[in-house]
Amino acid sequence: MDFSIKAFDTKNAISQAKSGCIAVGIFENGKLSAAAKALDSKGAITNALKSGDISGKAGSALLLQAPAGTTADRVLLLGLGAEDAVSDRNFISALQTVIRVFTSLGAAEALFALPMDGVRGRDLAWAIRTTVVTIREGLYRSDELKSKKENSKAGVKKLGLLVDAEQAALAKNVLAQGLALANGMDLSKTLGNLPPNICTPTYLASTARKLAKEFKLGVEVLDRKQLEALKMGSFLSVTNGSEQPPKFIVLKHMGGKVKSAPVVLVGKGITFDTGGISLKPGAGMDEMKYDMCGAASVLGTFRAIAEMQLKLNVIGVIPACENMPSGKASRPGDIVTSMSGQTIEILNTDAEGRLILCDALTYVERYKPAVVVDIATLTGACVTALGHHNTGLFTRHDETHDELANELLAAGKDFNDTAWRMPVEEIYQEQLKSNFADMANIGGPPGGSITAACFLERYTRKYTWAHLDIAGTAWKSGAAKGATGRPVPLLTSFLMKRANQ
Ligand code: BES
Ligand code: MN
Ligand code: ZN
Repeated sequence: MDFSIKAFDTKNAISQAKSGCIAVGIFENGKLSAAAKALDSKGAITNALKSGDISGKAGSALLLQAPAGTTADRVLLLGLGAEDAVSDRNFISALQTVIRVFTSLGAAEALFALPMDGVRGRDLAWAIRTTVVTIREGLYRSDELKSKKENSKAGVKKLGLLVDAEQAALAKNVLAQGLALANGMDLSKTLGNLPPNICTPTYLASTARKLAKEFKLGVEVLDRKQLEALKMGSFLSVTNGSEQPPKFIVLKHMGGKVKSAPVVLVGKGITFDTGGISLKPGAGMDEMKYDMCGAASVLGTFRAIAEMQLKLNVIGVIPACENMPSGKASRPGDIVTSMSGQTIEILNTDAEGRLILCDALTYVERYKPAVVVDIATLTGACVTALGHHNTGLFTRHDETHDELANELLAAGKDFNDTAWRMPVEEIYQEQLKSNFADMANIGGPPGGSITAACFLERYTRKYTWAHLDIAGTAWKSGAAKGATGRPVPLLTSFLMKRANQ
């Protein structure tokens, strides 16, 4: 879809617009939005409402062919629910209807004239970004590996977003940012959806290299030998059972002042999680190809902020490997020494995410970060706690971290990618006690996502840190199985606000 901003004012009126289709909003009580009124000079829209063919309920729609009084070939009426208080959910459900209609419309070009600054508690920027991201989401297909692609000849290919002339400059800027975000989400989704025999640690590394080349980012990929020299005994223990070589990927977007401390993103990159010797049950195990969605969100976020040319220093770090069973794999009971020097008793080889992250979290100390955010499909327990709507957000509970937590929560809310804060209190640390090492890698079933965060917390005491558990939000199961691109919006929003952009 080719998006653009179209300015309109009294000279350049909507009623004179030539278009294959203009989409306008109507409300539940038969009221018309400003754009709908402008197209209703001959009463064609009012009559359609009177006929009862459309209710005005959110998500309802009616397509009118060349209504009298307009110069457009079609007018699409979209229900927005109650007037004065268009909720963000109603706006999004109208967008979903738009996607349904536009993908099979007999016009290749359309105009979008919904009340973009009339959504309750949201602004024009939110509406434009949400429009772009939702429509791109609806059009996204994962058919690279299907021999027959879906026919994409029909439907709208060019979409102009109508805004007031005074707001056009702002809108263009927001549109560019929205497109960059959508591109980042697409990359994240594509990586997530790729099968684990293709999307290996080596594949993630080559994706990072490609991204670096295209956007002039710094990139480094450390191999097993270098990881051994760094004494990453915990990370390396997870790779033991796999034939795929581990990769430790570092990406740098240095858009800020030379001396300003970077934001560091650390993404879990398990390209397939069998559980290892603590083997997972067979049903649904294919979904453990998504265990690299933390890594994918880091790459997607870099794609977005690089295209935006964000004025901020950001470093992305991805420990990538597979968790496989074999004669060489870690056993339950093994004790390993992490890069930090702390020893870990591996009581369950399926709690491998924390084992690769802890060494990455130690590695990033060298950057003297302003803040470190790790992103991981870390625990099934997080899905039990929060379901599929909210990402789990974990930080310590002092003033600095409360502030960081609020920053991340607000960033998610603004970009429709919400998180919910969970406790990281000292009392939970007791569950990680080991009789034989400094800690165990599991804390038992109670509060499983919290004890996982507490494990990571032990490796992050030298900087400000937050952990995002995306086990419930990174992908969808069932008929609509597929990666969601989350939390690229939350992370991008967070970084944009830090850069004041
Ligand atoms: N990648 C999984 C977490 C996961 C499981 C995410 C299911 C989404 C859906 C992680 O490596 C894992 O296996 N965690 C274990 C931890 C347990 C052994 C303490 C889990 O959640 O069962
Ligand atoms: Mn696991
Ligand atoms: Zn895992």
